Amino acid sequence: MSPAQFIVTFFCIVAGVSAMVSTVAPCDLEDKSCITNSFKISFQDLVNGIPTMGVNSSDPIEKKKILGILPKLKYTLTDVTFSGLKDCEVREAFFTPDHTKFIFTVICPRLVTKGHYDAKGQLLNFDVFGKGNIEINSYGFNMTFKTDIEMFKDCDDKDHMKIKDYKLQLNDKAFVTHELSNLFNGDKARAEAVTKVMSANWRRVSEEAEAPAMYSLILVFIKNMNNYFEGLPLEEIFYKISQ
Ligand SMILES: *[C@@H]1O[C@H](CO)[C@@H](O)[C@H](O)[C@H]1NC(C)=O
Ligand SMILES: *[C@@H]1O[C@H](CO)[C@@H](O)[C@H](O)[C@H]1NC(C)=O
Repeated sequence: MSPAQFIVTFFCIVAGVSAMVSTVAPCDLEDKSCITNSFKISFQDLVNGIPTMGVNSSDPIEKKKILGILPKLKYTLTDVTFSGLKDCEVREAFFTPDHTKFIFTVICPRLVTKGHYDAKGQLLNFDVFGKGNIEINSYGFNMTFKTDIEMFKDCDDKDHMKIKDYKLQLNDKAFVTHELSNLFNGDKARAEAVTKVMSANWRRVSEEAEAPAMYSLILVFIKNMNNYFEGLPLEEIFYKISQ
């Protein structure tokens, strides 16, 4: 048996088992309130992870190392943890009419990124340098994931989806705090002044500096989502919830 055949056979067995616990009434993919209501529950399952299906937990997400190489700033983050996704609430989820996009908005009370940093360069026209601990707290984030998807069928002829690409839109109504130990090699007054400006300009900081880190962390989440979508057919993710 070739490796490809083995994967297909394995997948069919997994799909066969989950079909036995299949829910009754799937959502019509055009029915936004059905999609939203069921995704509120599915999102929690997805974030918690399903070890038996090979879906890792997304809270926390851990990365050993993230490199940020930007025109004016270079940094390395190590032993990074990103937590708080399990407290996010799905506000809205829907498919576009051609079923090529799945768009959802979550409100997250608090997202925490922690780790060690080593940075040198310019940020918001300040020269910055330092090496120490970093903690970024984001409160009340309203984020919209716009994903490009494709549909495929498993061997039981059930539809599944897969995310091919995504864009993350950070909507307003958030405040963000930055704490960096040993910034400017321990010059506290200078560090405090700059982190205040960073927090007040969080949107520019996230665009100018944090995008590579955010992208790399969210990519882990997207991978976990795809494992979840591969393991479960659409009808077990999006289904009518009896009132
Ligand atoms: C789950 O996480 C572990 C540890 O980070 C990693 O080695 C493994 O590849 C992940 N599994 C999947 C299916 O993403
Ligand atoms: C989240 O942002 C979207 C897009 O800006 C907006 O329509 C929605 O009302 C916001 N929701 C909350 C709860 O702030």
